[in-house]
Amino acid sequence: MNLGTICFMLAKHPEAYEKLYIEVYSAAIQTTGDIQQLPYLSGVVRESTRMSLTNPCRLPREITAKGWNFQGSYYPPRTTVSCSAYEMHFLHQIFPEPHAFRPERWAAASSDMHKVMMPFGLGTRQCIARTMAMYQMHLALYELVRADCFRGARPAKQRIEISETFNAKVIGGAIDIVW
Ligand code: HEM
Repeated sequence: MNLGTICFMLAKHPEAYEKLYIEVYSAAIQTTGDIQQLPYLSGVVRESTRMSLTNPCRLPREITAKGWNFQGSYYPPRTTVSCSAYEMHFLHQIFPEPHAFRPERWAAASSDMHKVMMPFGLGTRQCIARTMAMYQMHLALYELVRADCFRGARPAKQRIEISETFNAKVIGGAIDIVW
C-alpha cells in the first residue's frame, strides 16, 4: 500500500519526480545507508506514508487498572481509547493543506509533525518492523528512480479510494499507473 501510494504520487506529480530524479542521479551513494540520507527521497517516502493510510482504522488501547487522567478527563479502568492515522495525518494545523502531496514539507519538519505520525501505530504495541519497512521503502524507491520508471507515467485514476479495515483495501483491487 505504501509503495503503491509512492508510485501513484510520483506518477501524478511529474514535477516531484523530476526533483527526485535529479537528487538520485547527482548523489554519491556508497552504501545503502546513504540512501536514507537523501532529503527529498526521504521526504517522498514520509509524505506518501503520511497519506497512504495503510492501516486507516483506529488502534484501540485499554486503560489499565489505575484509570487515567488526561487533559481534565478521567478514564476509568478498562475503558477503550483510540485514535487513527486518518485523524492524525490530516490535521491541517500541523500539515497545512493536508491533502496536498508536498515532500518538501519534511525538509524542515516540526516536532509536532513527527509526534502525530503513526503509520506504524504508537507505543508499546507499535509495529516491530517499522525501521525495516522504512528502510525497504527507501531502497525500493531508489531503485525505481534509478531505472527511471516514472518517466511519462500517469495514474489511471485521480484518487486512491479505500475501504476501512485494519489493512486498507483498495476499491477496485489495484492502484493502476499507465504510460
Ligand atoms: C510499511 C509496512 C508496514 C506498516 C505500515 C505496518 C503497520 C503496522 C501497524 C499500524 C501495526 C499496529 C500498531 C499498533 O497497534 O500501534 C503493526 C503491528 C505489527 N507489525 Fe507492522 N507494518 C508494516 C510492516 C511490517 C512487517 C514487514 C512486519 C514483519 C516482518 C510487521 C510486523 C508487525 C507485528 C508483529 C505487529 C504487532 C506488534 C504488537 O502487537 O506488539 N509489520 N504494523
